[in-house]
Amino acid sequence: MAEHLAPVGVMDSGVGGLSVLREIQNLLPDESLLYVADCGHVPYGEKSPDYIRQRCRLIADFFHAQGAKAMVLACNTATVAAVADLRERYPGWPLVGMEPAVKPAAAATRSGVVGVLATTGTLQSAKFAALLDRFANDVQVVTQPCPGLVECIEKGDLNSPVLRQLLQGYVQPLLAAGCDTLILGCTHYPFLRPLLADLVPADVAIIDTGAAVARQLQRLLRERELLAAGPAREPQFWTSARAEDLTTILPMLWKKSAGVQRFTL
Ligand code: DGL
Repeated sequence: MAEHLAPVGVMDSGVGGLSVLREIQNLLPDESLLYVADCGHVPYGEKSPDYIRQRCRLIADFFHAQGAKAMVLACNTATVAAVADLRERYPGWPLVGMEPAVKPAAAATRSGVVGVLATTGTLQSAKFAALLDRFANDVQVVTQPCPGLVECIEKGDLNSPVLRQLLQGYVQPLLAAGCDTLILGCTHYPFLRPLLADLVPADVAIIDTGAAVARQLQRLLRERELLAAGPAREPQFWTSARAEDLTTILPMLWKKSAGVQRFTL
C-alpha cells in the first residue's frame, strides 16, 4: 500500500478517544482510521504509569504491525505515562499525544481562575506540573480529579441521577473558587457536555483539545507528505473487553453502528 494511504491508529483506555476520533474524521475525512479501545483495562486514571506504558506499547506495536503511518494517543492519561517511551521505541513515527488545554484556558480566562477536570493520573504527573509551570504563571489553576466519571461513560451512562450528582460534586468547588473556564482534561468528558451545560452557568467556557489534536495530526502528516487523498475506508474498531459491549455503545457515542473486533494482547 502507498504510504500515504496507510491508516492512522488512534487509541484510548476506552470509549473516550471516540471524541477525538470524531474531530479527526471531521478534519481529515480522507484518512482511514483504526481505533483501539482498551476497555479491558479501563480506567487508566487509577493505574500506575508502568502499567499504562505496557498497555500503550502493546497497542503501538499492534498499529505498527497493521502498517499505520501515524498514531494518536487520544488519552491524556496515556500521554503523560507513555508518550516519551513510545517516541523512543518508534523514532521518526508520527505520534500525537494530548494534554489538558491549560495554555488556551490561561489566555481566555477573565476571572483569572481556571478549573481542570481530569484523571488522578494526569493531575499527579510531572508532565502536568511542567505544563502549569510553563503556561499558568499568571492565573490560578484549581484541579479536580474525577474518579467514577469514566466508569459511567463506559457503560453508556451520560445522564443518570447518580452521574449528575457525582459531576455536580466535582464542578461545584471549581465554580465556588471563581473559575470562569473549565478544561476537560480527559477525552471521556466531552461526552458530558450536555450534562455540564445544565450544571454550569452559560458564561463559563468549557474547553477540550480534540480539535487541536486533529490539527496537530494534520500538520505532522502534511510535513511528511503523508496526507491521504480519499476515499477513506470505514474506521475499524477493536476492544480488549467484550466486543458486544463496544458494539452496543458505538451508536450512542459514535452515532453509527460498526463491527468490533477483539484485541487480545
Ligand atoms: N480518556 C482518558 C484520558 O483522556 C483516560 C480515562 C481513564 O481511563 O481513566 O485521560
